[in-house]
Amino acid sequence: MPESIPAVVAHGGAGPGPDRQKNVEAAVKVAADMLESGASALEAAVEACVILEDDPVFNAGTGGVFRNDGSVLLDASLHVSDGRMGFVIAMEDTPNPIRVAADLLDEPINGLTGVGARDWADSRGHKRDRVEGRPPAEGIGDTVGVIARDSTGAMACATSTGGCSYRPPGRVGDVPLPGCGFWASGDLSVAATGEGEAITTALLSYKVSERVLQNGDTLSEAMSWGISELIEEGVSVGLISLGRDGPGEGLSNTDMPWAEWHG
Ligand code: GLY
Repeated sequence: MPESIPAVVAHGGAGPGPDRQKNVEAAVKVAADMLESGASALEAAVEACVILEDDPVFNAGTGGVFRNDGSVLLDASLHVSDGRMGFVIAMEDTPNPIRVAADLLDEPINGLTGVGARDWADSRGHKRDRVEGRPPAEGIGDTVGVIARDSTGAMACATSTGGCSYRPPGRVGDVPLPGCGFWASGDLSVAATGEGEAITTALLSYKVSERVLQNGDTLSEAMSWGISELIEEGVSVGLISLGRDGPGEGLSNTDMPWAEWHG
């Protein structure tokens, strides 16, 4: 692959909530330092995502919100620009589901759900650890996402969530669904946040990528098109994206802390 300028972009969830900007910037800084030290996009995206999962202000990992029955069920996805993909759905007792998604990249399966996902994680040495979680809140920021590009031009897109507030335990949101909450092609990566049902119905991440690759839109034009044309007014949604060149970008129709770094 030709040389590229490393970059990273991350968000801390669409929707209002406590001030989360500095926390997102801290995760971006770690990913930036890793990329500058020669880490791959995949390594940097996963580590930044772990930092966000470990931070209780975010609805992901440790801070995941309760489902309607009081359970904490976590989703995560990872997509690499070489086509590898891993995702997990509704994992219990797993503070860092993104690490399980990462272990799926080189497996003959892409995704795992529920008890099977947890059992598989056990077999791969991912310790069970109770996730305290927290009560859901109206409009609270949901999902975290990180996209990184390394000096080879490889990109990786990592997302993680406890799911939108006030959802039943069996509900599946956008984060673990390819093309919905995440997409990484060879040239472009997009991650979405917000109301998973609307994002899924719109196939939002894929459609925004397609708009750039087929229509020649800029990242910000495509994200703006996706949010205004594919999402109903009043539905909280945000996006981050990163192309083969240039800095990452973020856009949302609600509060969404996001930050970027490029070398
Ligand atoms: N965007 C996260 C979810 O809807 O589950």
